[in-house]
Amino acid sequence: MWCMSTATGPLAFPEGFAWGTATAAYQIEGGVGEDGRGTSIWDTFCRVDGNVRNGDTGDVACDHYHRVEDDLDLMASLGLPAYRFSIAWPRVLPDGSGAVNPGGVGFYDRLVDGLLARGISPLATLYHWDLPQACEDAGGWATRDTASQFAEYAGVVAEALGDRLPLITTLNEPWCSAFLGYASGVHAPGVRDNATALAAAHHLNLAHGLAAQAIRTTASGRTGISLTLNLAQVYPLTDGPVDRAAAEHVDRLANRIFLDPVLRGYYPDALLDETRHITDWSFVHDEDLAAIRGPLDMLGVNFYTPSTVGAPPPEGDEASTATGRWTSDPGARELPVPWPGTDRACSYPQPGPYTDMGWRILPQAFTDLLVRVHRDYPEVPITVTENGCAYADGPDDDGRVRDDRRIGYLHSHLAAVHAAIQAGADVRGYYLWSFLDNFEWALGYSKRFGIVHVDYDTLVRTPKDSAQWYADVVAANALPS
Ligand code: FCB
Repeated sequence: MWCMSTATGPLAFPEGFAWGTATAAYQIEGGVGEDGRGTSIWDTFCRVDGNVRNGDTGDVACDHYHRVEDDLDLMASLGLPAYRFSIAWPRVLPDGSGAVNPGGVGFYDRLVDGLLARGISPLATLYHWDLPQACEDAGGWATRDTASQFAEYAGVVAEALGDRLPLITTLNEPWCSAFLGYASGVHAPGVRDNATALAAAHHLNLAHGLAAQAIRTTASGRTGISLTLNLAQVYPLTDGPVDRAAAEHVDRLANRIFLDPVLRGYYPDALLDETRHITDWSFVHDEDLAAIRGPLDMLGVNFYTPSTVGAPPPEGDEASTATGRWTSDPGARELPVPWPGTDRACSYPQPGPYTDMGWRILPQAFTDLLVRVHRDYPEVPITVTENGCAYADGPDDDGRVRDDRRIGYLHSHLAAVHAAIQAGADVRGYYLWSFLDNFEWALGYSKRFGIVHVDYDTLVRTPKDSAQWYADVVAANALPS
């Protein structure tokens, strides 16, 4: 038996299951002017009034750049065996391509060595949204050159760190880069154009494929390749044919637009047909799909909340044009919002309970998603590379952070992962988002996802109750009943 459970006993995870936490460079590092780092699109985006709540920026963030040793000590003291972090492209190649910055490479070199010295397994992501501004100035993900430059950057990292990285993740959530960055515009670089977003999605796929080749060549096959997607678990608003069609459209536009080219070597015909009025897809060149498709050693899946999708409300109805978390408080909204990148589907408000993000809590959706990915792409092992929740709890008078709601969310979602494994899904690990409270993109520091509290005035770290709870789960390789 692969994993065991009883009705009342603890839920045991498979032997060798990878347990860790996750972060991303721009969200925690700070030190934006240090050691020759170039400017990223998030540095630029944060400086435009109205883009980020409270005018927050990642200039200091958690100051992890200067506190890395202490942070790794804390991680080790909690007994967390694996860590997913991202590498800032503008630290390594300040102009996007060309001259390599030894100061930037040196930081990640020390980080990887620091993890290994503490017995923590590193999972490095090459791109967690901080595109060098120089690339954006030349067209960003709307142009194919960015894909080639990304492959150059991937080769540099593989050369410098590949000997110590068992697995490299190329991209984090290309859906967000393409559709929040170039369609709804709530993320950097803040473009609002559906045709550009579709081109960006393709160039991100191409970037993944070219980078995978570069890593394989440079690291001579020692380093595995993965890709992390935030797949949408979509439920139709009603059982009627129109809403079902809208939900299927979103499944193609948010999920299969990445899964099918990477794992099957094509874009779904229906996706091409239903977006022809937006773009002719001439940015897809003959040789691209062969370059994009390649063996994937691991598929990273990030999951927080499901979506309810339906056809846009009839003309004349007051459909909001606001753009969801794609805006600030999707849970608070009462109207459907257009799904980013399309005029054929809307995301509808969902019933609670919600986290502080306004995101619906529905653990069954996590099981459904993992089982579906395994059913449709059974050859690729899955790792949950992000899952977690925002709650504002801070230290009580005695200094302790009692974040019981986070423990509840984590418990139910780990049980959902366990259920998916029992149903046959090949899930190999779980990385909790996040190790530290951090910069939550357009929402600035207003949302706290960490199992470690960060006081943004003093930068003092305080493990929350959930940190010890998670440490116990990891040590037992099992979820308490
Ligand atoms: C994911 C991002 C991550 C974090 C969480 C809450 O979409 O990958 O950086 O913002 O959401």
